[in-house]
Amino acid sequence: MRIDILTVVPELLESPFGHSIIKRAQAKGIAEIHVHNLRDYATDKHRSVDDYSFGGDAGMVMKVAPIFAAVEKLRAERTYDDIIFMTPDGEKYNQLIANHLSTKTNIIILCGHYKGVDHRVRERLVTRELSVGDYVLTGGELAAAVVVDSVVRLLPGAISNETSALSDSFQDNLLSAPVYTRPAEFNGWKVPQVLLSGNFKEITRWQEEQALERTARLRPDLLGSSDEQQPSADGNR
Ligand code: ADE
Repeated sequence: MRIDILTVVPELLESPFGHSIIKRAQAKGIAEIHVHNLRDYATDKHRSVDDYSFGGDAGMVMKVAPIFAAVEKLRAERTYDDIIFMTPDGEKYNQLIANHLSTKTNIIILCGHYKGVDHRVRERLVTRELSVGDYVLTGGELAAAVVVDSVVRLLPGAISNETSALSDSFQDNLLSAPVYTRPAEFNGWKVPQVLLSGNFKEITRWQEEQALERTARLRPDLLGSSDEQQPSADGNR
């Protein structure tokens, strides 16, 4: 899968993809992530990517021309399945959307900044708008990092234990059961006995009970009707 990210602050995306599973996925050729500075597509001498909004609202707006030029250059090189705009008024991102995006070959992610983006970009270029939650970030970069991280880890081969991504919280609309590691007792705090029993049938049953109990207590909304699935993107609560 190839992901092209368009941003006015590429520095914000230097670290998130340079470590751990996402770094290894790139090294293995499973994912290609390219970050593009929109300033490189500005044509005026100040390389400006924003301007005052028509109508006099306070705040700057991202210009259409640099975004159009960047998208056109990329589209001349390959076909894109989606051009995604990260924005707080987009569709609420969740695991189902991550699963869906992980089946794509090429996507572009546009990070919003300033007061917003010239609406013609949203009308004419963007095919999907995503929000990572009902709060406002300084820009779309951290939101884009969330999307890329959650999608790339789903790609076949990205996680060595293939069952691991499938057993995440939210893949079955349930939170995960608690996990423990050695020592079996710390400070008098004991690991549940069943996990030490070696009885895998009992262990699986305990994990299923825990998953249900935790979901009912912490995220009862997830147990609603299956056609109104609203999982959020927390992998491990
Ligand atoms: N840009 C600013 N806030 C955002 C959010 N909550 N989701 C996606 N993009 C954003």
